Amino acid sequence: MIVLGIESSCDETAVSVVQDGKKLRSNVVASSMDLHAKYGGVIPEIAARSHIEAIIPVVQQALDDSGCTWDDIDAIAVTYGAGLLGSLLIGVLTARTLALAKNKPLYAINHVEGHIYANFLTQTSLRGYVLPAEQPRFPILGVIVSGGHSQLVLWRDHFDYTLLGQTQDDAIGEAFDKVAKIIGLPYPGGINVSNKALEGDPMAFQLPKARMRKYDFSFSGLKTAVLRLAQEQTGHDYSLPSTALPGLLNEGQKANIAASFQRVACETIVDKVVLAVEEFKPACVVIGGGVAANSELRRQLAARLPFPISYTDLKLCGDNGAMIATLGCFKAMLGQPAVDPLTLEVVPNLSM
Ligand code: KG4
Ligand code: ZN
Repeated sequence: MIVLGIESSCDETAVSVVQDGKKLRSNVVASSMDLHAKYGGVIPEIAARSHIEAIIPVVQQALDDSGCTWDDIDAIAVTYGAGLLGSLLIGVLTARTLALAKNKPLYAINHVEGHIYANFLTQTSLRGYVLPAEQPRFPILGVIVSGGHSQLVLWRDHFDYTLLGQTQDDAIGEAFDKVAKIIGLPYPGGINVSNKALEGDPMAFQLPKARMRKYDFSFSGLKTAVLRLAQEQTGHDYSLPSTALPGLLNEGQKANIAASFQRVACETIVDKVVLAVEEFKPACVVIGGGVAANSELRRQLAARLPFPISYTDLKLCGDNGAMIATLGCFKAMLGQPAVDPLTLEVVPNLSM
């Protein structure tokens, strides 16, 4: 079973070819990140326009890299939600058109479910990927940590899952991005906060952890606490505009704020993961989403879980077509219904 997967929910135009839900044959990602960086966040109209320009060359590159022709492709999979409306439309319309023109079954994929399926890739013909030796075994505790989602999901089997809890306000990636802004690090914030934290002391400051219903999260209070801490560090009160902070904080203060925030943000997730492991006794824990690349989160999980955890390649944590193609493979191999290419709609607020 060879599936071509298309992902365009945010600012990455990404297409990949995956075989049998485990072998990565190609993975092409064109990002419009550089165009958004100067605005400090993704501008939906710019993202949509960039997808239009990139999608056809990226599909072709993914096919070429995989060594496949259209004759070898058994099905097409595409993200239909959640995400930005204009961005999703480009991927979905491309996939619908290709499914009709090439006469292939079309599978509609939930982006957030897709993130977990990046962990099923164990083989590749591509250079530069470090993949787990084995596929995850069910029941799986899925930890989704991205710019738009923070969720704990218990998967009993493929397509059979329960959402245990989720953030009630900001996602963890969003909190990283906002903290980056407060201390003057460029967008996208996650990787920059993580790098800055390497120079700081994670115990320098005590920041609050929100107490939420069992498996729910909250990150907006932590973000505000970081803002107040930064203001305090400059010797000003809460009336100091946040835009003035980067110029007033020294590099040591920035590093200590980054490290202390990162420790607490990761603990917020890991505390609940540990609790869920005790209650549901999954066979394994898998993490997905951009923040799954965070080394402090990986360190804390490895230290506190009662069993070893394996991670996918850093390149497969953020948005990519491989995770979409992989879930598409399982849908096709396990007889899930394909969708009608004439009528598939995008669902920007799709939930689990
Ligand atoms: O999964 P993703 O690429 O897109 C969404 O579906 O949202 O996640 C993007 C998020 C951004 O908030 C970004 O700052 C964060 O993931 N991120 C990180 C790291 N790499 C990306 N956060 C913390 N540490 C990282 N190394
Ligand atoms: Zn994502």
